[in-house]
This record gives sequence, C-alpha cells and structure tokens, in this order.
Amino acid sequence: MTLRINNLRELFSAKEIETRVCELAARINDDYRGKNMVALCVLNGAFMFFADLVRRFDMGPELDFLRLSSYGGNSLSSGRVLFSKDTELSLEGKHVLIVEDIVDTGVTMNFLLREIGSRNVKSLRIAALIDKVERRTEKLTVDYAGFTVNWGFIVGYGLDYAGRFRELPGIHVAELDVGSGS
Ligand code: PRP
Repeated sequence: MTLRINNLRELFSAKEIETRVCELAARINDDYRGKNMVALCVLNGAFMFFADLVRRFDMGPELDFLRLSSYGGNSLSSGRVLFSKDTELSLEGKHVLIVEDIVDTGVTMNFLLREIGSRNVKSLRIAALIDKVERRTEKLTVDYAGFTVNWGFIVGYGLDYAGRFRELPGIHVAELDVGSGS
C-alpha cells in the first residue's frame, strides 16, 4: 500500500506566516532582552522557520543546529530518539530556546527537553511554528507557538512528505490517496 498526495490546499499563506513569525520574534525579544541566549534549530524541518525567526532577533543570540533520528528505522514518534548531529556550542549557563517546525505527539520534544535540560542550562523554552495539541501524548507546553493545527497532514515551509514540499513558502494540507504498488 502506498500513500500519494493528490492535492495541496493552502492553510497559511507566506504572508500570514511572516506576520505570525514577526509577532513571535517580538515576544521573544522582550523576554530575552539582555540575556545570553542560544537558539537551537532542530533539523531538518525547522530550517525555514528558524531562519525567518532569528533574523528578527535583537538580543544577539548564538545559533546552533542539531538533528535527530530514531533507531530501529521507525518514526521518531516511536519514542526511541537519538542525536544524529548534536549541538556544538557549550550550553552551560545559557538561556536556550529550542526551535521546531512542529510539535506533534511531543515525543521528540520531550527527549530534547530531557537531554538539553541536563546540560546545566539557565533556562529552556520551546518555539514551534505548528502546535498539534490534539495529537499530544506527552505532557508539555510550547512557550512560543505559531499556529495551533489539530488535523490534517501538513507540508511546506520546512515540513515534508518523503523529503518533498519543504521549499513551499506557505503551509498546505496534503490530501492523500491510498494506492497500491509504487
Ligand atoms: C518532525 C518534526 C519534529 C517531530 C515532531 O520531524 O520536525 O522533530 O517530527 O513529532 P513528534 O512530536 O510526534 O515527536 P521529522 O521526523 O519529520 O524530521 P524532519 O524534521 O527532518 O522533517
């Protein structure tokens, strides 16, 4: 059985995303004024949100990048998460902001909160463009959430389906067809 995307329906336009990213950046600038902040980009999905968000920061943050994978070849939501690329900066004594494209079940973020939180950071918060609250299985709150989305398979603005659609400037709901064969 295969899943094919047969239509994309725009959910948030590039303009709507830009407006929301500006609002989030303004709140973050207020909250981190005068603080030594490190913004962490969770690759791959967060690359576009991260780039648009941090270019509006005025507290002079340090930036770093990490990547996760699951072992066993299953999705990250299996709960067995590993770093495939860890951070490179020292996070000790710093105010760390984890930047994600989407928090879905929360398994990935819970892993990150545990791991990054164990590195003697001064504070730890989460920014996520999409907060899929209804899918949450882990108890956590997104401090800076762009949009709450409760249904649908979404792509664009960094979010992919099988490695595709990340380049789209807007966020779209993918309508999926179930087919047979390749
Ligand atoms: C997505 C997203 C989060 C994770 C959220 O990553 O970027 O890291 O899933 O899901 P969860 O809340 O259910 O754990 P994905 O595995 O699609 O990798 P990608 O960032 O490379 O697209």
